[in-house]
Amino acid sequence: MGLLAMASAKGSPGVTTASMLFAALWPRPSIMVECDPSGGDVALRMPGADGEPLDTNPGLLNLVAAGRRSLYADLVRQHTEQIIGGLEVITGMTTPEQAAGLGQWEPLGALFSELPGTDSVVDLGRIGAGTPQNAILASASAVVLVVDTVPSNVVHLRERLRKVSDGLGGEAGAPLHVVVVAPPKRSRAVAEIRDAIVQSQTPVEAVHHLAHDTTGAAFFLGQVTGSPARTALVRSAQPIVDALAARTAGAFLPADRAVEVTS
Ligand SMILES: Nc1ncnc2c1ncn2[C@@H]1O[C@H](COP(=O)(O)OP(=O)(O)OP(=O)(O)O)[C@@H](O)[C@H]1O
Ligand SMILES: [Mg+2]
Repeated sequence: MGLLAMASAKGSPGVTTASMLFAALWPRPSIMVECDPSGGDVALRMPGADGEPLDTNPGLLNLVAAGRRSLYADLVRQHTEQIIGGLEVITGMTTPEQAAGLGQWEPLGALFSELPGTDSVVDLGRIGAGTPQNAILASASAVVLVVDTVPSNVVHLRERLRKVSDGLGGEAGAPLHVVVVAPPKRSRAVAEIRDAIVQSQTPVEAVHHLAHDTTGAAFFLGQVTGSPARTALVRSAQPIVDALAARTAGAFLPADRAVEVTS
């Protein structure tokens, strides 16, 4: 089915957190895949469904090793683990050195975008000119760039949006969304980023506001207490996930290219 590619242009705005969160809220069967060449975090943060530390053996590196001759969907099932809360994940590499030798990014994108009955939410980490995981973007049904409100990071975002949009084929390509991580009351900052994007004339389909919420984010650091569903983070994520899931549901809906803000 579809592949939702999640990435940042600068800083650490919360891509891994948002990737886990979006996959967990996804309305169809989904897996979260860590394809950040700088190294995965999920196995370091999240316990398994049984409360024990995750085993990094199944993860991405071993999937690629097992699929040296050909990558096929069953390998994904064999290298998937369940984390606490029930989310299915493929954990990333533990060191950047492992990523350097991977060399399989494009076929991995094709694999994760064609899983029978399952969508994948793929954490690409920070993307830039020539980062190897860019090859996965070619298989994306939709692309999300995550940004915080630090002004210099927003400048980097605009430059990266233009490059990613060109790589996706502009208006005709996969839809490009921006997720701004900002405190719930700072919707004005999100609107300003939206305006900057409109002025740069990049074909971005929507700019969303994801709550900066330490309580909700702590759940994705493995500090599982209380009900995450009631946190500002999860409540702000649900409409974003619904919009993205609609755009990755096989046949794309006709695109209204006007930039909208959801908050
Ligand atoms: N929406 C949020 N609200 C509050 N804190 C957040 C949010 N998202 C992430 N964080 C916190 O920010 C830190 C970095 O988050 P995360 O690892 O998701 O970012 P990243 O962009 O994937 O970073 P990296 O560049 O290391 O891959 C973590 O401590 C996380 O708990
Ligand atoms: Mg990350």
